Amino acid sequence: MATINTEKLSSARFAEATNAFVEVFTASVNFDQRMAQQDIQGSLAHAAMLGKIGILTEQELTDIQHGLAQISGEIERGEFVWSVKQEDVHMNIEARLTDLIGIAGKKLHTGRSRNDQVATDIRLYLRSEIDVILVQLKRLQIALLDVAEREADTIMPGFTHLQVAQPVTFGHHLMAWFEMLCRDQERLQDCVKRINVMPLGAAALAGTSYPIDRHMTAELLGFSRPSNNSLDSVSDRDFAIEFAAVGSLIMMHLSRFSEELVLWASAQFDFIDIPDAFCTGSSIMPQKKNPDVPELVRGKSGRVTGHLMSLLMLMKSQPLAYNKDNQEDKEPLFDTVDTLINCLRAFADMMPHIKAKHENMYASAKRGFATATDLADYLVRKGMAFRDAHEVVGQAVRLGLNSGRDLSELTLEEMQGFSLSISADVFDVLKLEGSVAARNHIGGTAPEQVRKAIAVARVLVGS
Ligand code: ARG
Repeated sequence: MATINTEKLSSARFAEATNAFVEVFTASVNFDQRMAQQDIQGSLAHAAMLGKIGILTEQELTDIQHGLAQISGEIERGEFVWSVKQEDVHMNIEARLTDLIGIAGKKLHTGRSRNDQVATDIRLYLRSEIDVILVQLKRLQIALLDVAEREADTIMPGFTHLQVAQPVTFGHHLMAWFEMLCRDQERLQDCVKRINVMPLGAAALAGTSYPIDRHMTAELLGFSRPSNNSLDSVSDRDFAIEFAAVGSLIMMHLSRFSEELVLWASAQFDFIDIPDAFCTGSSIMPQKKNPDVPELVRGKSGRVTGHLMSLLMLMKSQPLAYNKDNQEDKEPLFDTVDTLINCLRAFADMMPHIKAKHENMYASAKRGFATATDLADYLVRKGMAFRDAHEVVGQAVRLGLNSGRDLSELTLEEMQGFSLSISADVFDVLKLEGSVAARNHIGGTAPEQVRKAIAVARVLVGS
């Protein structure tokens, strides 16, 4: 037998047809080959450790290192021939290694099992993909800061219940998105702490009888430490679930941004223009320009939350230790990674090109009696109780509604009809500019505060 385990699934117990099917059915190589470089990385560290404790001779270690380097190159160049017969990425690489270097290749698996190997590969893989995700997330954060700076003075309606509530600045609105991404970034970095623990050495489930040096392997692979319990190490995928949960939150946030962009780009809001490069037309309606990117990102958020559910259900009720169920962790995980990178990238690319339609935003804030609270606050400053002020402003809004005017368009005499506390200075607070400028405290919407928040944020993200 030239390579290991080729006959494993085709034993005489199975009829030929079933055999062939089961072989394909149980194989994971078509998707787990994505972790090939991590698998090689793990094998190199394991081999170096076996060399140090005297299980491999210097020559054997050198042979393994050369063989794995060649395999790594073959995979990178797309020359490696993956075989379903070898079931998964681990067996494929090991079989090729043995083809290349003979007996030393067969010694690599000493003191190791695919169970601790696969757990190690996933952790290495996730650790490096999180770095890529963080790069895209930061690009989006910086893009948001740039647009927020540009739009620090731009007035738009702020909404509650999707009804015009109070005027805000567009810069402030964008900085709300920025804040969400800051927490997402923290969560990503936090889950790396639990990902970056090394399972190698747990072997199949109980550890190994060889005098392995797990600290050495952990250090070589950049893990913070070896794991504490062999059974736990090969079985739990909580770290992957946690990552998917963080990913779901990121996508939930992106879906909220998306929804707003879609609404704002509609003729009914008409607050923004999404550049043509990020939209497509309709095959039947020539006038259409559809906000495809945000729509698609909104849709993909459901997909990532679905992966989180898959992984939770996959792990639920599994007895210790490793079960083949866990092979099903890869596809949801890989798709979560791809979706996050692509969506963050699309948003980061698109954001700088979003054009705010200032006049429309302003007019919309004006139409919605957005300064009603400002009028109430004005009356309170003149000595009226807030509830009474609320009532007076309600009457003023009704007059505005009936006569098709904003509060700032009512005459002084009309307003004094509701309260004699009102004098000519009321028009300062009824202006949208006055309203936003008045909210001048940490976290407020005043342009001055938005600029301060941006400055703090720039230091934080280093832009
Ligand atoms: N392909 C397997 C997986 O993805 C590797 C571990 C297989 N271990 C085993 N004992 N069958 O989980």
